[in-house]
Amino acid sequence: MPKILIGFMGAGKTTIARQLDSNFIDMDTKLIERFGMPISQFFDKFGEIAFRKYEAQLLKELSTSRQVISTGGGIVMLEENRKLLQENIETIFLRADFDTLYQRLLSDPKQDRPLLNHQSKAELKALFDIREPLYMSCAGKIVDVTAKTPKEILEEIR
Ligand code: S3P
Repeated sequence: MPKILIGFMGAGKTTIARQLDSNFIDMDTKLIERFGMPISQFFDKFGEIAFRKYEAQLLKELSTSRQVISTGGGIVMLEENRKLLQENIETIFLRADFDTLYQRLLSDPKQDRPLLNHQSKAELKALFDIREPLYMSCAGKIVDVTAKTPKEILEEIR
């Protein structure tokens, strides 16, 4: 059963996954390999619905793995994904308030975020409000990462 990290963009899913398991799987990285192009380019060419289809397929493939998996922030948008995440008892929600996440995103070196590049702060906040209860509904464990160091977060997860 994999440990699956979920949460909004900027929650630190990839950073924490890497520290939990050096063989972790980053779903966005895998998708970039499959697409042969950056995620923002894939969004421009084929749209978000196509992206979600590939993302769901990959989650299904990974659901029987034993590794740590970091998901993309939109993984909870599809019901089939939520069902898989709910069935997996090691689904961990890295939770932070919107303003903290927004500040982090502004200084995050990961620039390949189509939703961030195309939406205003108010639109992102609306997305956050839609997703927050979805992350909650999928999580076997909730870790508040707002004012914690990676070390403290890791201790809570392990
Ligand atoms: C997305 C988040 C991104 C990536 C894609 C869509 C989203 O991942 O999957 O740009 O819908 O929130 P991160 O959460 O790792 O930034």
